[in-house]
Formats: sequence, structure tokens, C-alpha cells
Amino acid sequence: MEISTTRLSLRRLTPNDVTDAYVGWLNDPDVYRFLETRLSVQNKKSVLDFVAEKAASDNEFLFGMFLRDSGRHIGNIKVGPIHRHHKVADVSLLIGERDCWGKGYAAEAITAVSRHAFEKLGVAKLSAGMYVANEGSRRAFLKAGYRQEGLRRAHYESEDGRTDLVEVGALPGEIT
Ligand SMILES: CC(C)(COP(=O)(O)OP(=O)(O)OC[C@H]1O[C@@H](n2cnc3c(N)ncnc32)[C@H](O)[C@@H]1OP(=O)(O)O)[C@@H](O)C(=O)NCCC(=O)NCCS
Repeated sequence: MEISTTRLSLRRLTPNDVTDAYVGWLNDPDVYRFLETRLSVQNKKSVLDFVAEKAASDNEFLFGMFLRDSGRHIGNIKVGPIHRHHKVADVSLLIGERDCWGKGYAAEAITAVSRHAFEKLGVAKLSAGMYVANEGSRRAFLKAGYRQEGLRRAHYESEDGRTDLVEVGALPGEIT
């Protein structure tokens, strides 16, 4: 199963997709600055275990973001875990290839997986959260149609000390 957008192809990752470049993203300070992955060691084994677990799940969907024109793997976007009673799920993403930042890929991927979650995965509400300093992430979600729903004060430890968490959410029909 593949989700196609204008420039991206999204498909569930398998352990075969775990390259040195992918492991390298998680050890790049510019990439992990706002990610919880920075709190644990990221090496080939830990990433392989993570991908294998998600590949076997019927409740969490880890998609790779591949450029359609070259097939290059530039990042990942995840939906889930899906709460089966409340039908809510989180969306999280990273674009690991830094030369691909600021080109609209995040907004394009968020739009596509959000539509997919509403239409095919039985989700009724999607949520995401980001450190308040992560302007790119917040703007990408808002561009995809998410709305800001909350601001949790001093919710996380960050390199700048305590930092606020921005919460965004989307309902079916709000995705642009
Ligand atoms: C955050 C991230 C996903 C943004 O991806 P992206 O493809 O660069 O985002 P987009 O190009 O879709 O940008 C969306 C908007 O944010 C703006 N933007 C992007 N990066 C920005 C930055 N660092 N500072 C301010 N604005 C930024 C874009 O100009 C665009 O603005 P627009 O609404 O006026 O068009 C990407 O930088 C990333 O993966 N970073 C590392 C991991 C991470 O932080 N993930 C998110 C965790 S919540």
C-alpha cells in the first residue's frame, strides 16, 4: 500500500529501509533537537527493533517519506497508536535529510497521512504536539489544516530549559 502526493510516495517501513543514513538522522543534533528520540541511544539495532515493531503493528503506522522522482528516503511520518474506543491518534514526523527542509514536504506528508487516517484507518480525531520553539513543525501542521488547541506551560526539558508544548489537532474535513 502506497500513498502518493505530488512529490512524495509514502509507504510503511520495513527493516530493509534501515540504512546508515536513516540511523544518522537520529544522531544529528539539528534533527533531534526537538525529538524525544534524543533521550535514548540510537543505533542500527535500536532503529531496526523500532521499525520491526511498527511494521508488525495493526495500530501504529510508520510511513517512510520517499521523493517520487528519485526514490530517496528523506524522513518518516507516524500515525498512532490509535485508541480504538475514542478513535484518536497522534501524528509525528521527522525529515532527516536537512537539505529537504523548508520545501513544503512536511505539510504535504501531514496532509496525505491525515486524509488516509480519517478515510482508511477509522480515526475520528488526530493530534500532534511540538516544542514551542519548533516553528517549522507548528506551521507545517497548521498549513495542513490542524488548529492549535492547547499550550501546556513548561511541559518539557529542553536545551533552553523548561519549555512549553504546543498541542494541535484536526477533525475530518479540516485537512486542506
Ligand atoms: C519540523 C519539520 C518537520 C518541518 O518540515 P519542513 O518540510 O521543513 O516543513 P514545511 O516546508 O512543510 O514548512 C511548513 C511551514 O513552516 C515554515 N518553516 C519550516 N521550517 C521552519 C523553521 N525552522 N523556522 C520557521 N519556519 C519554518 C515554512 O516556511 C512553512 O511556512 P509557510 O506556512 O509560510 O509555508 C522538519 O524541519 C524536521 O523534520 N525537523 C526535525 C525533526 C522535528 O523537529 N520533527 C517534528 C517534531 S514535532
